[in-house]
Amino acid sequence: MKPKNDTFLRALLRQPTEYTPIWIMRQAGRYLPEYNQTRARAGDFLSLCKSPDLATEVTLQPLARFGLDAAILFSDILTIPDAMGLGLYFAAGEGPKFERPLRDEWEIRDLAAPDPADKLGYVLDAVSQIRKALDNSVPLIGFSGSPFTLACYMVEGGGSDDFRHIKTMMYARPDLLHRILEVNAEAVTSYLNAQIEAGAQAVQIFDSWGGALSHAAYHEFSLPYLERIISGLTREKDGQRIPVIVFTKGGGLWLESMADIGADALGLDWTVDIGDARRRVGDKVALQGNLDPAVLFSNPETVRAEAAKVLQSYGKGTGHVFNLGHGVSQFTSPENVAALVDAVHELSRENHG
Ligand code: CP3
Repeated sequence: MKPKNDTFLRALLRQPTEYTPIWIMRQAGRYLPEYNQTRARAGDFLSLCKSPDLATEVTLQPLARFGLDAAILFSDILTIPDAMGLGLYFAAGEGPKFERPLRDEWEIRDLAAPDPADKLGYVLDAVSQIRKALDNSVPLIGFSGSPFTLACYMVEGGGSDDFRHIKTMMYARPDLLHRILEVNAEAVTSYLNAQIEAGAQAVQIFDSWGGALSHAAYHEFSLPYLERIISGLTREKDGQRIPVIVFTKGGGLWLESMADIGADALGLDWTVDIGDARRRVGDKVALQGNLDPAVLFSNPETVRAEAAKVLQSYGKGTGHVFNLGHGVSQFTSPENVAALVDAVHELSRENHG
């Protein structure tokens, strides 16, 4: 069934809307005091992800505060490598880590895509509970990491500044990296299809580290696997199109080739001018983005003025979903997020109708 507010889905399909819809990457997160309270009740971040009841609760928190046009499943991209047995944990203040990073050839040969129903049932349960709780008010976005971005964490064993291990593998043993990427692509495809089956109404693939690659390496190690996933996704459910959004952070130089892999929309980080991006991709895809998250450190007046610049640059017509160029920082004041959502809804009306 169509959500009562389906503005987000229509914009992704470049159908007419009355205003520009908005959601915010990491909209449920540490900048919200109520999130921190629920996380404390869960004990830690991973337990929060693994409890469908609590994941549902935090997914809804930003929607109770702000007039957002979509909900996003509360989870993490690293659930897949966790389900592959790499031993995900979050060391306090250090971000994600794996107990068993993937480096040895025999381990890479043994790597297998997890069956989502078996290993990731807690995510699928969260998706169906969230859908029920949303009661068709706004659409629910499912998501996954891209094969390359997941591989970065799997091979490095955590976050990295220089991607030394994965890039060494990429240049010295490209066959091994391709093997990991093939398994990841298979895992992401079945995981996203399972989320769609459970009720996700759009999906986003986060290629957070694709921008760390050279032009040639992006076109060999990230883009083809994104294309492979998209061609394997369920694109229609109950008569509704399921739009796919691809977000490569730092992908601004490659928008033309990204527009050709079958996605409905491309996410943009804040380094590109969105009007320029629109001219470059033409009518092939919708665009999502791309306010610098740091604007939200300022004040409501500045937030409104900066949002107006993005809307003005995109210009008249449909095909724009407003978002930040990356996730909202934990140091953001919720008051500025409220100002952003209201500003986008008010100021964008003149771009439509
Ligand atoms: O957007 C949403 O509200 C949905 C939830 C969501 C989270 N992570 C929750 C989260 C989504 C879509 C993600 C995706 C994710 N996770 C990405 C891709 C997007 C991006 O940021 O580029 C990546 C690279 C990860 C891996 C990850 N998870 C990192 C690097 C970290 C630590 C960074 C940090 O902000 O501390 C996490 C933890 C994480 N995932 C948090 C949240 C709300 C903070 C954890 C906490 O509560 O302590």
